[in-house]
Amino acid sequence: MNQPRRVENLHTDKGKVPVYATGVVEQPWDGYSADDHAVWRLLYARQRELLVGRASRAFLEAQDAMGMTPDAIPRFEDLNRVLSSATGWTLVGVEGLLPELDFFDHLANRRFPVTWWIRRPDQVDYIEEPDLFHDLFGHVPLLMNPVFADYMEAYGRGGVKAHGIGADALQFLTRLYWYTVEFGLIREEGGLRIYGSGIVSSSGESVHCLESDAPNRIGFDLERIMRTRYRIDTYQKTYFVIDSFEQLFEATRPDFAPIYARLAEQPSLPAGTVLDGDRVFNRGTGEGWASDGDV
Ligand code: PHE
Ligand code: FE
Repeated sequence: MNQPRRVENLHTDKGKVPVYATGVVEQPWDGYSADDHAVWRLLYARQRELLVGRASRAFLEAQDAMGMTPDAIPRFEDLNRVLSSATGWTLVGVEGLLPELDFFDHLANRRFPVTWWIRRPDQVDYIEEPDLFHDLFGHVPLLMNPVFADYMEAYGRGGVKAHGIGADALQFLTRLYWYTVEFGLIREEGGLRIYGSGIVSSSGESVHCLESDAPNRIGFDLERIMRTRYRIDTYQKTYFVIDSFEQLFEATRPDFAPIYARLAEQPSLPAGTVLDGDRVFNRGTGEGWASDGDV
């Protein structure tokens, strides 16, 4: 089989151009270099140390249960044995960002696309596009959780549906993914914890989201999230906090079509907005109270 491609964004004089790749590839495990494994080892060790006491219990336990270790880049095959018997999900290798509909179709069928290649040593602190570390370390563990696993499948189906409705619907749904799957916080006994993959795969944001005074931490509210714009080039200005994965799954059960139609009539909110009635959380204790609006 041919070596799969490493598909990254193009940088031109007009700025960044995202490049998409379709299709599923075999993980070329024997082709990983010593540098590739070293990047995995460094990022894995650094993040695990930061995440104990910061990431949600479900995330940390699942990562151990899957048999991920810092020693070497895991083989998708090995992870799939554990994952498929736990929740019926399988990992499939991809070359880079997928077109939206391909991505939704994978999720709807309980297949999670994982980028086969890992960032280079000079990219350990920041890379724009998802790579193997973000996908595998960040996204895959929670697929071991039965409720989260069902949520991701439902999201995929919802994506196929939103794609058929139009661009506004897709934008609202993408915001939901962003503020839950990528940048979500969850309330646990000891206080707020991280479950979003975009946070757990970033050392800076893993600390910032819980310990900085700058961002808002606001209670999960479906329509509130769908109205809220997000930043892709800086740490988030707002994180949304769920009480449990059950809450997330239940809240997203209704038909979104009428919600999309209603939201299309309302202005979207800048990322840092605090509204009257938002449930605002204290970063230390995780206690929440109703806000009386922007300060
Ligand atoms: N209930 C949503 C719909 O009707 C589907 C969905 C479920 C979307 C879970 C996101 C997450 O479109
Ligand atoms: Fe991601």
